[in-house]
Amino acid sequence: MSSPQTLDSVPAIKGGMRAVQAMTGQPEPKVGVAEFISVAERFGFSETALTRLREVLSEADLPKVGPHLGRYYGSAKPSMGDRFEALAREAFQVKHAYAVCNGTAALTAALAAVGAGPDTEVIVPAAGFIATALAGALLGATPVFCDVDSSLQMDPVKLEPLVTNRTVAVLPTHHWGSVCDMGPILRVARRHNIKVIEDCAQSPGATYHSQPVGSIGDIGCFSISSYKLIGGGEGGMVVTSDDLLYDRIRQASEAGGLWRPDRFAAPRYDGELFVGGNFRMSELESAINVVQIEKLPDIVTRHRRVWNHIRQQLPDVEQITWQKSNDPEGDIGYMLRCFPKDDELGVCLAKALKAEGIAASYRGSEGRPDWHVCNHYYPLMDRFPEQFGTERCPVGTDLYNRCLTLQLNQWWSDQDCDNVALGINKVICAYCTPIESS
Ligand SMILES: Cc1ncc(COP(=O)(O)O)c(C=O)c1O
Repeated sequence: MSSPQTLDSVPAIKGGMRAVQAMTGQPEPKVGVAEFISVAERFGFSETALTRLREVLSEADLPKVGPHLGRYYGSAKPSMGDRFEALAREAFQVKHAYAVCNGTAALTAALAAVGAGPDTEVIVPAAGFIATALAGALLGATPVFCDVDSSLQMDPVKLEPLVTNRTVAVLPTHHWGSVCDMGPILRVARRHNIKVIEDCAQSPGATYHSQPVGSIGDIGCFSISSYKLIGGGEGGMVVTSDDLLYDRIRQASEAGGLWRPDRFAAPRYDGELFVGGNFRMSELESAINVVQIEKLPDIVTRHRRVWNHIRQQLPDVEQITWQKSNDPEGDIGYMLRCFPKDDELGVCLAKALKAEGIAASYRGSEGRPDWHVCNHYYPLMDRFPEQFGTERCPVGTDLYNRCLTLQLNQWWSDQDCDNVALGINKVICAYCTPIESS
């Protein structure tokens, strides 16, 4: 059998015929309709709907090579990641936003950007979520716990004594729909030249003195996941208005340098390039989140309406302290929390509320381990034993245990709110003594 070389053995470069004129194999797109249907299946559409979708969708409607779902694939249109970041800049009123794969990655990138690493300390609240402390520890920094006050947020009064010459950052967590008292926290940080990284995972859309959380400190970190107010799966966002920190966040999140104007260019300034990872958000996740983030203002408005409607009907009584608010206008309020004077009353109130049809939970001092309060942060204990012990954060430990929590629902009607308020009133009045206003 003859090969092309025997027909024309003269190399093309010397005037012979080109060996390869055109390829005749028929490629199929790497990603096509079947993958799209697989996503629809994951959404939970019925078999009937999936069949209908299969009937109307055809590979012919797709670009010839199929979609490229990478963030940086050259296209005339902005990527979904670009669009999500643009919407986040607007929502959180910041100069820069960077989409990452989850909230822990957002914190890790932010901490790397401010120089957290071995021989440094980062101050995190006694109550919030373990990820804030873990992100620092992952980089080799020591997490130092700051106690909370009756707002269940970092207590600014307890902050300053914890600052040492190794402290690089303080990370106030805006806990469960409420906001930290950012004014005094910022003043301490500025006095000691340490960075403020707000952990906004639990309170996206909340404000402090009318400023969106995330835009108040140096960097804001969000988890945009199915467990949070917005997000469909796993995602995160880092925001800042500082150009240098923004570059460093990107270097920490994409050490491959895909974000740089010239990926392989020499450092444009001292310290531009350092060890990082790849925390990029996927285009599929961004596609969900461009829709999710536009829903945020209405979600916050609905929650605030429900919280206010119920809270204003509740009495002050001697045996219960209501959670303090650092900004009643700024809190989102998807949880109603108070601290009964002891376990006996807490257990009793929770039981009586449930009997009224109101989902309430009381932890109690024998409560199960919980990664929202530092005395249960087991993965950190072996490594940083000196940071643990009940005497470290007594207020957080006590208040967290004595917390009676009612999860509110943004979709409740005024009638639903009135019914819930009536139930709470009945229970509180049956077991507690009203404080007479003078
Ligand atoms: C306060 C806080 N920070 C960080 C995280 C971590 O976010 P992710 O689960 O997206 O990594 C969470 C998640 O629950 C959180 O509540």
